[in-house]
Amino acid sequence: MPVITCIDDLKRMHRRRTPKMFFDYCESGSYSEQTFRDNVSDFGAIRLRQKVAVDMAGRSTASKMIGQPVAMPVALAPVGLTGMQAADGEIKAARAAEAFGVPFTLSTMSICSVEDVAAATTKPFWFQLYVMRDEDFVDQMLERAQRASCSALVLTLDLQILGQRHKDLKNGLSAPPKLTLPVMLDLATKWGWGLEMLRTRRRSFGNIVGHAKGVGDTSSLMSWTAEQFDPQLDWKKIARIRDKWGGKIILKGILDEDDARRAADFGADAIVVSNHGGRQLDGALSSIRMLPGIVRAVGDRVEVHMDGGIRSGQDVLKALAMGAKGTYIGRSYIYGLGAMGEAGVRRALEVIWKELDISMALCGEKDVKALGPHNLLVPRDFEGNWA
Ligand SMILES: Cc1cc2nc3c(=O)[nH]c(=O)nc-3n(C[C@H](O)[C@H](O)[C@H](O)COP(=O)(O)O)c2cc1C
Repeated sequence: MPVITCIDDLKRMHRRRTPKMFFDYCESGSYSEQTFRDNVSDFGAIRLRQKVAVDMAGRSTASKMIGQPVAMPVALAPVGLTGMQAADGEIKAARAAEAFGVPFTLSTMSICSVEDVAAATTKPFWFQLYVMRDEDFVDQMLERAQRASCSALVLTLDLQILGQRHKDLKNGLSAPPKLTLPVMLDLATKWGWGLEMLRTRRRSFGNIVGHAKGVGDTSSLMSWTAEQFDPQLDWKKIARIRDKWGGKIILKGILDEDDARRAADFGADAIVVSNHGGRQLDGALSSIRMLPGIVRAVGDRVEVHMDGGIRSGQDVLKALAMGAKGTYIGRSYIYGLGAMGEAGVRRALEVIWKELDISMALCGEKDVKALGPHNLLVPRDFEGNWA
């Protein structure tokens, strides 16, 4: 068993073990990837304020996200095709999250279906919805998530049209992969992945195949999905979905203060300050830079969460100290999953938890809920001076 000390170790193993097509799918941003890179590097501009001679015994990272207790305020973000990074990937990630005591969010574009994940777990998880043109499919999906006892709906607002990721086009991304010569040559070096994949029946979009009209097999699936995201999604449609869902609702993909105020007026239980991990609007500012302004804009009117670029517990600390009540990790747990399956997701969570706990202690804080701007050294021009 290799010694894993940080998220980067898991990323290296993920790259070695998983077909190039799926590693690249994870490790891409749209177009020039500027926003994808900034999400990570902007965390580096913020520094932590060291405190000494403070009693640091009895520390706690426990908190709440939308009123639900969490072992630390770090949820697993919705990630499409997770079941292609490792066989039955969504089930493995959901189990690791459950054992750790943090929320797992299942993507609409998952390989394991909402029913599969519910059957393999014992506690409620969250369901992420992409709004499709086919209203019957959306309504059915909401009913299926309700039947699966999902305890929150995460409604993603920043992907009604797809930002282009060059590598996906060049690699001919599909689930399952088409067996072209380059793919076969690559798979020959990824036999551990291949053997596990042969043992599962879950190799296509489990929430969609057999449920959406006109999608019976995988070949019709890619075209169906590309055409299905509803470009007319607006606040009226969001309200319809909220009424149909009737439970907790989190609006994901907010990166603008006016949109955040609108979401607060709307009565969302939380918003996620997010640019989809730099996979949509290339050129948008990083989530961590946008966070302080959005927190100021909404105050306590709505719970503010954030994601994008979190690769360590120090990053989590910085986001919380800047006012987020919760954070999400996407790639950080996918690296773990691709590296070592369920144990790898657990390891990613442990790494982040330990970094958070120790950094809190060195900042002189015992309680994650007490973190605030007093723990940070932020460059005066961090948020930028934009016209
Ligand atoms: C490979 C991949 C697939 C994703 N798929 C989805 C998805 O299906 N639904 C969604 O709302 N967000 C999706 N996201 C965005 C994540 O939920 C999250 O916003 C992003 O990963 C956060 O950035 P990070 O990866 O730097 O932590 C995806 C991100 C990645 C990396």
